[in-house]
Amino acid sequence: MTEAVNWTELRREAAEAARRAYAPYSGLRVGAAALLDDGEIITGCNVENASFGLTLCAECGLVSNLYDSGGGQMLAISVVAGDGDPLMPCGRCRQILIEIGGPELKVDSDDGPRRLDSLLPGAYTEADLNERKD
Ligand code: THU
Repeated sequence: MTEAVNWTELRREAAEAARRAYAPYSGLRVGAAALLDDGEIITGCNVENASFGLTLCAECGLVSNLYDSGGGQMLAISVVAGDGDPLMPCGRCRQILIEIGGPELKVDSDDGPRRLDSLLPGAYTEADLNERKD
């Protein structure tokens, strides 16, 4: 599906979301935009907190917005900083995205789209939980 993704538009939507970010502590505004299988685009932005560890990454807001707007399968995601250029998702967000978007989710990067499972090889998933629990 990579050929069907308008990465320019996705990056633009992510950059717009970054402008809505609340990032007074780091000064790094982050926006995320994902294309769903029905053509919809959903977005999220980072929201920081004086208690730094409580910061919400842009991808967290995006995933919440995905469910709040009725759900759907993400095909592609672009995460950008305030300058509009790709920012690679942090480790925690890679874990969140692989559960919700799956291993084939395409992730924007400076070197072109990457499969999410190439960014989180050997991921811990729900399958491990189900196989190993008592
Ligand atoms: N940030 C994100 O929103 N997503 C990421 O994947 C990386 C980091 C935010 C969190 C924090 O508000 C700022 O970037 C600086 O780390």
